[in-house]
Amino acid sequence: MNKSPELILAIESSCDETSVAVVKDGHEILSNIVASQIKSHQRFGGVVPEVASRHHVEQITLCLREALAEAQVTPAELSAVAVTYGPGLVGSLLIGLSAAKAFAWAHELPLIPVNHMAGHIYAARFVAPLEFPLMALLVSGGHTELVYMKADGEYEIIGQTRDDAAGEAYDKVGRVLGLTYPSGKEIDQLAHEGEDVFHFPRAMINEGHFDFSFSGLKSAFINLVHNGEQRGETYSKVDLAASFQASVCDVLITKTLRALKEYPVKQLIVAGGVAANQGLRVGLTQALAESDLTTELLIPPLRLCGDNGAMIGAAAHVQLQKGDFADLSLNADPSLSFQEMA
Ligand code: KG4
Ligand code: ZN
Repeated sequence: MNKSPELILAIESSCDETSVAVVKDGHEILSNIVASQIKSHQRFGGVVPEVASRHHVEQITLCLREALAEAQVTPAELSAVAVTYGPGLVGSLLIGLSAAKAFAWAHELPLIPVNHMAGHIYAARFVAPLEFPLMALLVSGGHTELVYMKADGEYEIIGQTRDDAAGEAYDKVGRVLGLTYPSGKEIDQLAHEGEDVFHFPRAMINEGHFDFSFSGLKSAFINLVHNGEQRGETYSKVDLAASFQASVCDVLITKTLRALKEYPVKQLIVAGGVAANQGLRVGLTQALAESDLTTELLIPPLRLCGDNGAMIGAAAHVQLQKGDFADLSLNADPSLSFQEMA
């Protein structure tokens, strides 16, 4: 383990991306192979767990070999194997976990158990060193959370969604607009051509806590479109997208800024698939610039916002330093939360 440099092989398979990366010293990507199976799920309008597991089985060994080859690293040079053990789909998680355990056992390497959401936060480590305390706005297909971190590996959820996650809301209204799954990116693009003419509700925006709710917005959107259809009216797709996005971004930005005032931090990290959203990126940058806060904004590049192995390697680096290892009895934990790790 005292080998230099530190090289972590990191495996991610929690949902519909099989990914393996080799990360050097926690912040340098030597390889980051991502095999997306999204095309197989699109016709179902969402991820089918059984189909996802089968794809992971087909892809995992290929990704592993390719990640080592691209990084030009041999198993003997590795310091550890890291793997996502939750949250996610149990069948999907188990494929990555089994591969990681087998590899760690065969090559006598320590095994590092990584929380997928911690991985999303640590994707920001590829942009700049993290400075504490920091706040992370985690926005993905399954999560919407404000996480306060006093130090590496210490997570305190100060607010979270009470119903749908932001990405989930994007995907559900996308279906009503006839878009393919996942529709966040397309709605984001359409939104830039339209205007917020429908003024959808901004749930809990003025309430003192930091929780979110997106199911009311989703229902308001669906009802408007369906009622319109019944009257024979069709609304402009770009205006619907712009109005939906304005509501989501308004709530996320307003609450995040309020959280930054109550919890002074050095950095704000925006992470998860929805961190790719241009409206959110631009809106947050502007709101911070117009505020009297000096918080540094860190948003991973687009390719590191979605699920990938490199982010798991970055989070694992911190655990390796602390000696936070798992043995081969490590199991998948589909509903793993930060609280459980505390
Ligand atoms: O983090 P992620 O890749 O997977 C999960 O762990 O959930 O996030 C996927 C989510 C999907 O709901 C997708 O629609 C959303 O991220 N997404 C976006 C954008 N790109 C991806 N949502 C809004 N705007 C985008 N540009
Ligand atoms: Zn994710």
